[in-house]
Amino acid sequence: MSIEKFVRGYADMEISRFHMPAHKGTPLLGGEPYDITEIKGADSLFESDGIISESERHTADAFGSLRTCYSAEGSSLSIKGALCAVRRLKGRPIRVAASRSCHGAFISACALLGIEPEWLLPDSPRNMLCECRVSANAVADALDSSPLPVDAVYITSPDYLGQLADVKGIAKVCHERGTILIVDNAHGAYLKFLTPSLHPLDMGADLVCDSAHKTLPVYTGGGYLHISKQAPEGLAELCKPSMLMFGSTSPSYLIMQSLDRCAGLLHGGLPEMIRRCCRRTSEVKAVIESRGIRDISEEPMKITVAADFGYDGRQLAELMRQSKMEPEYADPYAVVLMLSPYNTDRDFERLTEFFSNIEVTRSADADSADNSLLFAHRPEKAVSLREAMLSSAQAVPPDDAVGRICARAAMSCQPSVAVVMPGEIISAESVKILKRYSIPEIYVV
Ligand SMILES: Cc1ncc(COP(=O)(O)O)c(C=O)c1O
Repeated sequence: MSIEKFVRGYADMEISRFHMPAHKGTPLLGGEPYDITEIKGADSLFESDGIISESERHTADAFGSLRTCYSAEGSSLSIKGALCAVRRLKGRPIRVAASRSCHGAFISACALLGIEPEWLLPDSPRNMLCECRVSANAVADALDSSPLPVDAVYITSPDYLGQLADVKGIAKVCHERGTILIVDNAHGAYLKFLTPSLHPLDMGADLVCDSAHKTLPVYTGGGYLHISKQAPEGLAELCKPSMLMFGSTSPSYLIMQSLDRCAGLLHGGLPEMIRRCCRRTSEVKAVIESRGIRDISEEPMKITVAADFGYDGRQLAELMRQSKMEPEYADPYAVVLMLSPYNTDRDFERLTEFFSNIEVTRSADADSADNSLLFAHRPEKAVSLREAMLSSAQAVPPDDAVGRICARAAMSCQPSVAVVMPGEIISAESVKILKRYSIPEIYVV
């Protein structure tokens, strides 16, 4: 029986609920009748052997994974669970080489698990903070130059701007050296359903964290931790108990029903809807490019407009809002637009009309996102990431932070290259970049 069917059936029986949650199914907001807890027959997310594991198997079939674990707390939980599972597999502290452009969930996981990552920088032509693409060569260099074997490589792909890493090349580099590859694919669950698939599972990653809710029709908070069929033996069994270490013991059944419904859709017409959405998005991309505007996203369901045609990215976002459109993200250099099969014809029309009519001007002195200083500069480390993140801290304006020890990662958005990581000393160069991205304050130890 599906999770959705079980919960609907329970709601229809009008049982007197002497269990949590206290709303007892009263439709205060509307969804309460279907918001249940681990009653008899409802299974239990972290010790599942009933309807939840059945639904997870259905999803694993759609993704071609060995096993897929649901998360009702997004990729944030999947990331912590993945790292903890590797730590438990090894049975000792682990060494991780990680893209410095990462989400805060990874940094928190490192602090909680006592991981001191070896940072990999993106070798990016544009040097924008939100770019996360590290190359296979950079990974090979890091693994080969490490004095001790690296247990896992952690990368983010796609990044926030829609750029894709060479996951296949990185997986080859990792596996030749006996290293586990974990991919934060929060933005790329839908990549599985392209022809051909661009999902990291199909590119050789061992563990993949997807935020189902970002690109599939799932309630906010729904995510997956996929374990690949080629992952080291024993890893799959460690994932759920590892997620349990960080997750709530009251995961939302509304979110799990949504993941369950999505599994059914993925076995039905949704993959074709995704491909159709990508074709429609490519038509909008063509309009944008015909106006001489650059779309720097490599993803087929995301548009990233480079704001270098007479507007700052935040001004462009404001203009879009005036035309009844809300972007995903804007900073001085780019505006990110995320599309899905559930965008309507009107949404596509608005987008096309906006970019067909917007005035395009070029100024010779357009401010470029040259953060080469940041990428060249390796801040000095004073204390461990864990010690800095668990210390008491105060927020200060960037100008007052020079020479102090950073306590919380300073980022323009998540994921992005942290200007300074916890435990590192804040330099005058770092402060320049913080100000460029209008980061108003930074936490210091
Ligand atoms: C690359 C990346 N990883 C992880 C996360 C965390 O995902 P979630 O919000 O599903 O917990 C995000 C969220 O924005 C993200 O962009």
